[in-house]
Amino acid sequence: MQHVCTECGTISARWLGRCPGCGAWGTLLAESTEPARGADPTRARPLLRLVDVTTEEVARIPTGVPELDRVLGGGLVPASLVLVGGEPGVGKSTLLLSALGAISQTRRALLVTGEESAAQVSLRAARLGGCDAVEILAETELEAVCATLERERPDVCVIDSVQTLWSSEVGSAPGSVNQVREAASRLLRVAKESGVATFLVGHVTKDGSVAGPRVLEHLVDCVLQFEGDRYNAHRVLRAVKNRFGSTNELGVFEMTGEGLVGVPDASAVFGKSEVGEIGAAVVCALEGTRPILVEIQALVAPTDLAMPRRVATGVDPKRLAMIVAVLARHAGLPLGAADVFVNVAGGLRIDEPGADLGIALAIASAARNVPVRPDLAAFGEIGLTGRLRPAAQAPRRVDECRKLGRSAVLAPAGTEGAPLTADTLRRALGVGLAAAE
Ligand SMILES: Nc1ncnc2c1ncn2[C@@H]1O[C@H](COP(=O)(O)OP(=O)(O)OP(=O)(O)O)[C@@H](O)[C@H]1O
Ligand SMILES: [Mg+2]
Repeated sequence: MQHVCTECGTISARWLGRCPGCGAWGTLLAESTEPARGADPTRARPLLRLVDVTTEEVARIPTGVPELDRVLGGGLVPASLVLVGGEPGVGKSTLLLSALGAISQTRRALLVTGEESAAQVSLRAARLGGCDAVEILAETELEAVCATLERERPDVCVIDSVQTLWSSEVGSAPGSVNQVREAASRLLRVAKESGVATFLVGHVTKDGSVAGPRVLEHLVDCVLQFEGDRYNAHRVLRAVKNRFGSTNELGVFEMTGEGLVGVPDASAVFGKSEVGEIGAAVVCALEGTRPILVEIQALVAPTDLAMPRRVATGVDPKRLAMIVAVLARHAGLPLGAADVFVNVAGGLRIDEPGADLGIALAIASAARNVPVRPDLAAFGEIGLTGRLRPAAQAPRRVDECRKLGRSAVLAPAGTEGAPLTADTLRRALGVGLAAAE
């Protein structure tokens, strides 16, 4: 018998609470050291060619929440396992309860709650409305939950949350990595064998991964991340992994007293800006297949710090450092004696290089104290040489800008349909910033 760390693979002769290799806690699992024997030939199976595999086209289950359907790739695939991660209080339970409510109109929908009592859930249900037909099971014992699912076979089930489930067969505490992994893999089997489409709610840890180590992400069919800070009404749901659809698809919600309301026209919400405001620029970023206008705000303030601060909220800090460096080196905008703060409006996060140009424009506007042109929306990636690179799916972005009345679309040279183009960042600043008085 030996013990192997499930995180880094370090082998230890005896069990340890903490892995000596990677320092993770509770990750060592016992493993047999018996050498593998030769395979038993009677266990060999016949093979099929893919062309001979017959499939019936399975209809997806609409969740009744269009933004959720969009992120799932057009509805919930029957018998699939979907992990929904998010920080405490972002609204995971609210979102999934309203989905169950809508699903329960035509199918069997079950909520397994380990976190809140049935009475607490019913309070929320009363607030959301339309949840009368949702069945509920308040249970944390994994065996009981699986047995119930196998007997009842609901079409859709929500486990809120996977961290509260525990099995007495696993020798570690509820919420530990081993328990969570055991729960997920058993529920996976139940989902596939009994045809129960299952949502697992998972809390994210401080470093942003679901259920501690990323063990669950490999097991499940989809990983949805629910983002947005609690102090902001807008929430964003994105697919981090999806076996049945595109990733990076985005759903936008607003938290209201009646629950989460989808915001189909996200650009109108996030892309609002004041004409003539210093340090603000609107970008057209692409989220999956969805172009979305977002206002970027920047503040450039003089500093005495030897290492001026570069603070990014909603933008990758490395990307910000790169843009600041290119602005200094190739666009004549030295920022070595200034703190630079960049913020994406509405608590949104943008990971896309197409947003570079808008970020640079907001910073340049703040540094030079001139606003960007009225009705400007920009997109384009900035290269390290100061040259602008074409952004993916430019025509869709141009369309989205037009739709929202942003007539001054600024894009890399060669972008069809954009009224303003530039080949370098320096020229783009010349075109994008309003002429100084
Ligand atoms: N009456 C209400 N009116 C408006 N918003 C409310 C109301 N009650 C709760 N909320 C919102 O719902 C959020 C909590 O939602 P929910 O319980 O679904 O989150 P959660 O992600 O499941 O949290 P947890 O991780 O704690 O389970 C609160 O942050 C609050 O903003
Ligand atoms: Mg909850």
